[in-house]
Amino acid sequence: MRHFLVVLITTFGLCAPLHAGTHYDAAKQTFRLDGGNVTYVFGVNERGELQQIYWGPRLGEKDEVPAAKSMQEWASFDDSYNNTPQEYVSWGAGLNYEPALKMTFADGNRDLVLHYVSHKASDDGFDVVLKDVKAAVYVTLHYKMEAGSGILSRSATIENSEKQNVTVEQAAAAAWSLPRGHYTLNYLTGRWAGEWTLNQEAVRQGARVIESRRGSTSHQANPWFALQAGETNEESGEVWFGALAWSGSWRITVEQDTLDTVRVTGGFNPFDFGYVLHAGESLETPVFYGGYSKDGLGGASRLLHRYEISNILPHRTEPVAKLKPRPVIFNSWEATQFNVDDEGQMALAEKAAALGVDRFVMDDGWFGQRKDDHAGLGDWYVNAQKFPHGLKPLIDKVHTLGMDFGLWVEPEMVNPDSDLYRAHPDWVLNFPGRDRTEQRNQMVLNLARPDVRDYVLGFLDKLLNENDIAFLKWDYNRNWSEPGWDQLPAAEQKRVYVEFTRNLYYILDELRRRHPKVEIESCSGGGGRVDLGILRYTDEVWPSDNTDPFDRLTQQDGFTYAYTPQVMMAWVTESPHWFNHRATSLTYRMLSSMQGSLGIGANISKWTPEETALVKRLIGEYHQVQATITQGDLYRLISPRNGSEFSATQSVSGDKSQSVVFAFIHSTQEGRVFPRLKLEGLDPQAMYKLRAIEGPLAHGTPEVASGAWWMGHGLELSDISYDSTVSFHGDFQASAYRLDKQ
Ligand code: GLA
Repeated sequence: MRHFLVVLITTFGLCAPLHAGTHYDAAKQTFRLDGGNVTYVFGVNERGELQQIYWGPRLGEKDEVPAAKSMQEWASFDDSYNNTPQEYVSWGAGLNYEPALKMTFADGNRDLVLHYVSHKASDDGFDVVLKDVKAAVYVTLHYKMEAGSGILSRSATIENSEKQNVTVEQAAAAAWSLPRGHYTLNYLTGRWAGEWTLNQEAVRQGARVIESRRGSTSHQANPWFALQAGETNEESGEVWFGALAWSGSWRITVEQDTLDTVRVTGGFNPFDFGYVLHAGESLETPVFYGGYSKDGLGGASRLLHRYEISNILPHRTEPVAKLKPRPVIFNSWEATQFNVDDEGQMALAEKAAALGVDRFVMDDGWFGQRKDDHAGLGDWYVNAQKFPHGLKPLIDKVHTLGMDFGLWVEPEMVNPDSDLYRAHPDWVLNFPGRDRTEQRNQMVLNLARPDVRDYVLGFLDKLLNENDIAFLKWDYNRNWSEPGWDQLPAAEQKRVYVEFTRNLYYILDELRRRHPKVEIESCSGGGGRVDLGILRYTDEVWPSDNTDPFDRLTQQDGFTYAYTPQVMMAWVTESPHWFNHRATSLTYRMLSSMQGSLGIGANISKWTPEETALVKRLIGEYHQVQATITQGDLYRLISPRNGSEFSATQSVSGDKSQSVVFAFIHSTQEGRVFPRLKLEGLDPQAMYKLRAIEGPLAHGTPEVASGAWWMGHGLELSDISYDSTVSFHGDFQASAYRLDKQ
């Protein structure tokens, strides 16, 4: 067994590399990880606990890091076990704070104290094995530091080598300890149609819990955090950040203890959790990624974006520069809702092709007896009234028009009014004999069951085998209720919290293996399932059902703190908008959506020739700068948050050869002029040529100037003038510019 392969310290010698960028000092029993501008150090303290020593800016190669030494007690009330920042602290020995691990043994014992046993290199990092001081319960901590970004991935495997069962009641992926100090916590919350609100609050003593108990990632909160130290702002100051890769119920606890130490613990949500480990079984936690930047929240998000592109997203084996920008899509949902049929979709496809769209996606309504949201989910056969000859004629037409074809599915759900439910009423999550709550007239299939998993994989595989489909929009339109799994013994039913999500990942992984060209979007009534777990298997996400272009500015701002614009789909839809009745110009709508991966979701059959021409031109422009916007370095120059009159973003390509600027006005008041935009991230020596994609420029703006000029002097968008040809004033105005290195 792995943990019995105790690595003899002597085989490493002093300060031997465990893995590229990782050193183990045998004399001090310390582990040091270096990557990017970051160093992370932990060690074995005199009691045998694994203790965090340092996490911050990269230290000098020859710097002597002290050995781990437990913290003192604070009188007789806060003892050393509580005060010592452990890497993975278990509930036992009187712990009063958030544990990483808590369990109950068969005899009722709940005391668990983990001590270091051994370590060894793994395929892509290294593992440290801990063991309870008495029982044969082992925890293997997995560490992997990425060389470029210094982002550290951490997870744990909990193994029961006792003869009897143990029940894991709480299992974190990792706990992060920060240097003692004063912090501002940033986290993202929301609701349906109102996702991605950035919250900023001072960390105080006690715990701030960010979580989902809903069975999936949720709109309510997103598993990401950033802690700013002292005077940090958007582009300067220290930031520690992290993101949890789990699409089931999760929890991140940010806790400041009585002695002001701050720890962040995250993993499976312990609420209603209870995972029985039989003798010899193990439980693997999700991965918690953590990073550090000295360049403010902007620096932190740029590191995360790059990491997501190079280490998380599918096709990541390709060099980063080769990750394809997303195709520009058309989606039928807001145009035709459930009323999809051959003729109507073909007409829309012709219009979409004329705009220069790359991918035509047919949304909900094509299957089973799906006339509205009351029926059909679960019956994944093509509706013969709407598509008498199957999907082939439409798909062929879409191909003839030069686009590829995508399709909406909601695989984990079932309507009671469906053949599937009539045949398998026992397949839904439920507690027998109790009511089954419906939301949007649907119930959640228990994907944790192997037969349900196989059914879902089977119909999706068949759909992809029988039709030339390039893309699936994978939806998930409700949360869990009554999460019972009645086929298992009572004590084991809570496994659903782990197995459901694991099976979801398995199906996605297997589909991608069988159909390597198929791309997938993660959607959950908008942004209800966006996290680094699902992003390993999906190419893009749907951030929100709210497509109002003004609301989207704030949502996109929040979204990009955690996730790259590469995955941030943004559709141009109708005006006035269905959700809040706001009227905006087509240019404004286009430019708002061009900040992410662009899509068109309007009823384009109604568009005038002028509107069609405008969108076609802007899609052409977008294609030329898309890689910079979606894969470059993002600078949020002016935030749209807190009712800001103005907002602006800037993206710079990795090689600094191109930059794109977007600027938006909410409502100018008292004639105020758009602030001069001091650009970021350019090569100061290089000369850049400026061109307006759309919008004015102040009189005298040079056509060509150095990076130093654009960063030092800045870009002036507007004169103080009432002349609309040179001024940038009014309500819901938008402009965009590109700079190309000469
Ligand atoms: C969800 C999605 C929408 C659309 C509908 C279809 O709400 O977020 O984009 O696909 O379902 O029913």
